[in-house]
Amino acid sequence: MNSPYEHKANDSVSEDVVWHNATVSHQDRSDLKAQKPVVLWFTGLSGSGKSTVANAVESQLLSLGKHSYLLDGDNIRHGLNKDLGFSDHDRVENIRRIGEVAKLFVDSGTIVLTAFISPFIADREQARALVEKGQFLEVFIDTPLEVCEQRDPKGLYKKARAGEIKNFTGIDSSYEAPLSPEIHVETAGKSVEECAGLVVSQLKEHGYI
Ligand code: ADX
Repeated sequence: MNSPYEHKANDSVSEDVVWHNATVSHQDRSDLKAQKPVVLWFTGLSGSGKSTVANAVESQLLSLGKHSYLLDGDNIRHGLNKDLGFSDHDRVENIRRIGEVAKLFVDSGTIVLTAFISPFIADREQARALVEKGQFLEVFIDTPLEVCEQRDPKGLYKKARAGEIKNFTGIDSSYEAPLSPEIHVETAGKSVEECAGLVVSQLKEHGYI
């Protein structure tokens, strides 16, 4: 059976670059880990709690004996994506690369959590299109801008309001909220553990773990 992890024609790749199919399959790796790999694509404003909730989800998965890996916006921007800023163009490239990395993790049989603002619907849909149907769950960490701004854990909203940072999401750069996320977490009035529990219970309900 052809899976998205096997060869896909790519016009921009030289014909001297040849795809090798691995002997150990995606299915083998998933079976070994006794889970259905999936991308949990967290999206939300800066300070909404994406990283915090994703971390708590990972801890809960670990205690259930599940294999996961968290790709976190701020951390990835220290390494793989350290050449990128916050223009629309750079954000598109940021998410494109993360989509590709997430696809590799899913191929490895891992539950991959990504915590990036990922402000544009088209980019999130592009990341979704890289994996098989059912292997991408959009997780909307829905925290109102006023709350994020009040929290302002890194003092960035304050700087953005003062004009010291340009293109700040929610201030002078747009955020396109998901229209129909698979998992919608309204964080107001809920603890981190409760928010994470909502995500994990969805994974159980739909047979991923
Ligand atoms: S994304 O828009 O390209 O998906 P990403 O999640 O990687 O963003 O990085 C967002 C983090 O970078 C924020 O949580 C914040 O700490 C920091 N940051 C610095 N400058 C900006 C900016 N102009 N807009 C948004 N976040 C910024």
